[in-house]
Amino acid sequence: MHKFVIQGGRKLEGTVAASGSKNSALPLLFATILSAKPITLRRVPHLKDIDTTLTLLRGIGARASHEKGVVQVELPKLSSTEAPYDLVRTMRASILMLGPMLARERSARVSLPGGCAIGSRPVDLHLTGLEALGAELKLEHGYVVGSCPKGLKGAEVNFRMPSAGATEHLLMAASLAEGRSVLRNCAREPEIVDLVKFLRAMGAKIEGEGESDIVVNGVAALSGANYEVMFDRIEAGTLLLVGLMTGGRVQVDGMDSACLLSFIDALKASGAKIEEGNGWVAASPGANPKAIKIKTEPYPGYPTDLQAQLMAYLAQIPGESHLEENIFENRFMHVPELNRMGARIDVQGSLAVIHGQPSCYDGATVMATDLRASASLVLAGLCARGETAVRRIYHLDRGYESLEKKLATLGASIQRELD
Ligand code: UD1
Repeated sequence: MHKFVIQGGRKLEGTVAASGSKNSALPLLFATILSAKPITLRRVPHLKDIDTTLTLLRGIGARASHEKGVVQVELPKLSSTEAPYDLVRTMRASILMLGPMLARERSARVSLPGGCAIGSRPVDLHLTGLEALGAELKLEHGYVVGSCPKGLKGAEVNFRMPSAGATEHLLMAASLAEGRSVLRNCAREPEIVDLVKFLRAMGAKIEGEGESDIVVNGVAALSGANYEVMFDRIEAGTLLLVGLMTGGRVQVDGMDSACLLSFIDALKASGAKIEEGNGWVAASPGANPKAIKIKTEPYPGYPTDLQAQLMAYLAQIPGESHLEENIFENRFMHVPELNRMGARIDVQGSLAVIHGQPSCYDGATVMATDLRASASLVLAGLCARGETAVRRIYHLDRGYESLEKKLATLGASIQRELD
């Protein structure tokens, strides 16, 4: 296992480029199952979750390569329709293989992902949605076994709540279903818009992406495509916090602020200075930092994936800030670790009350518990007095491309070491 060793207290400043989005690249890669033709995806980040996805695709017969951000996939014929437990358990998004395999091969066997550290994370919306399209699903030995001997049929699907994954899953399946599907109460994340643009490049007929209702007119087959993945808005937000927390100005290139409005608004409300240009955003500390109250919500609300990082920042702003987590039930595992470093945060159910104090962090050995929580510990370590060791950074490696290299170019002292 690896750990990061950080010497804190340095001012970080400069310009970094945003990577391609993990949360967009994953559904796009699963969507390649829908086509027999060669597909090229550009700006695909080099991350553990991407490797896992390519392994899953190879497991069903795909030829797949990933070099310098370019993924090439070709799946003329499926040699298997199974997604095994050993891979699925490391990455919940693997459930997204079920719909595309059913749509193309009329059968699939995919391990159920199970719970994860941030909550139980059910997949009922995925399964009931596929059933509405005519799939017969059974649970056997921890696997969802699906079949649709006559193919999927277009239908109306009403999601109980907006889910990014379920919306993506049904968009893929409905693209190859016979007839018209209407998906209601869809998630509206930019990654969903990105998936629709990609599916459209493959020949899918979809309207309404970015809205609550999306209409899909199924086609008989999808073609190949050459497509560039959107930027990673969670990585971009994390990098913007780095300068703010250490007293410098950090500019992130290759991003579109329109996808991060609620986050940027939160930074502005906290007194940060935000500058924007064509394809870039910069953040630096303002003269009057202010405590703020934020709650996580489905897009376009404040993103849960930037909750832990914002908390690390707010712990240094004088006054009482509030962060309410409304998406996942157990997403405050970073709090005890931030408190061990000197933050004063109380958790009351889904509310974290942050008693901010400037320069609150002291270096310590801390443990990463999940992907975004790990990022908050790195942020705290960068502005702490002395040395911080963040252990179990395999969580970070799932979602942040070359994080230590990007931070080092901004002036951080951060080393990856064997633990
Ligand atoms: C995606 C992101 C993840 C992010 C999350 C919320 C990917 C690979 N992951 O996850 O980083 O934190 O969106 O922005 O893109 N739910 C159900 N039943 C379902 C599906 C979801 O009850 O069948 C619930 C979840 O438990 C959660 C809420 O819906 O409370 C939203 O989850 P969802 O948007 O589905 O998250 P993911 O797509 O898993």
